Amino acid sequence: MATAHQPPSTAPHHPAAGAADTAAPALESAFDAAVAADERIEPRDWMPDAYRATLVRQIAQHAHSEIIGMQPEANWITRAPSLRRKAILMAKVQDEAGHGLYLYSAAETLGASRDDLLDKLHSGRQKYSSIFNYPTLTWADVGAIGWLVDGAAITNQVPLCRCSYGPYARAMVRVCKEESFHQRQGYELLLALSRGTPAQHAMAQDAVDRWWWPSLMMFGPPDAESSHSEQSMIWKIKRHSNDELRQRFVDICVPQAESLGLTLPDPDLKWNEERGQHDFGAIDWSEFWSVLKGNGPCNEQRITQRRRAHEEGAWVREAAAAHAVKHSERKEATA
Ligand SMILES: [Fe+2]
Ligand SMILES: [Fe+2]
Repeated sequence: MATAHQPPSTAPHHPAAGAADTAAPALESAFDAAVAADERIEPRDWMPDAYRATLVRQIAQHAHSEIIGMQPEANWITRAPSLRRKAILMAKVQDEAGHGLYLYSAAETLGASRDDLLDKLHSGRQKYSSIFNYPTLTWADVGAIGWLVDGAAITNQVPLCRCSYGPYARAMVRVCKEESFHQRQGYELLLALSRGTPAQHAMAQDAVDRWWWPSLMMFGPPDAESSHSEQSMIWKIKRHSNDELRQRFVDICVPQAESLGLTLPDPDLKWNEERGQHDFGAIDWSEFWSVLKGNGPCNEQRITQRRRAHEEGAWVREAAAAHAVKHSERKEATA
């Protein structure tokens, strides 16, 4: 987007709160026109304070989900059944750390501070996806997470590649490529178990039974109860509603479950000829709200582990900062 771009002298990278109040209406209409024309908004462009705040909230929650999401699967790295599986799982968990980094960086382009975002995560003032508050009870859970949780993430994130905010959209392009590897490794793992011994097949089925409904909840509350959706659609941060994406995910998963030789735990799931989509059963939203409020099986464990990792990593951050200073001083000296 170029139309609402201010020269650097008058447009600090991160205008202070309230800058919008004094902005000329011309800036606002240029922003609206750019969004309407599907142009990208870039960090130095003028943007409404509420647009910036919405993006920071969404990107932060997304970043937090990536790094908290490392925990349930990391539990299985030491117990992976073969070297091949261990290598795959380690690569996947490392990818999630990378996704967190891209996303925290994208939030920083909006003026957010990484320390502040992490502080909000650790103190419970910002959320991460509730799906990661469920435990990984068996090895098959690694497969179910890859197939269903990463699969739901892809369904959510592919449209974000066209998000109006440039840095977020570009981060999503790379994230989605890696997510599709995650989804495939989960599918392949479940397929191997499903075709294995009766006990392995039962383990795969049990994992799918436990992860199916929480995966559907990943798309967020029904459209009628989704408080931020409408404005996000106007701003083209969001391109499809929660219910649309959830339906798309169900329609993708049904034939995949059949190929896997596994059933989805929903007796009401059936093809609706008229709609050209699957009907599916009612989601237990009371469970969703309860987990979101902190009462899931692992909320406490996840956040405690995250805080500990942050504290134990303090020396790494200090060393990196000291190295950066040394490096820039050396550069200046030779310049
Ligand atoms: Fe990810
Ligand atoms: Fe992933």
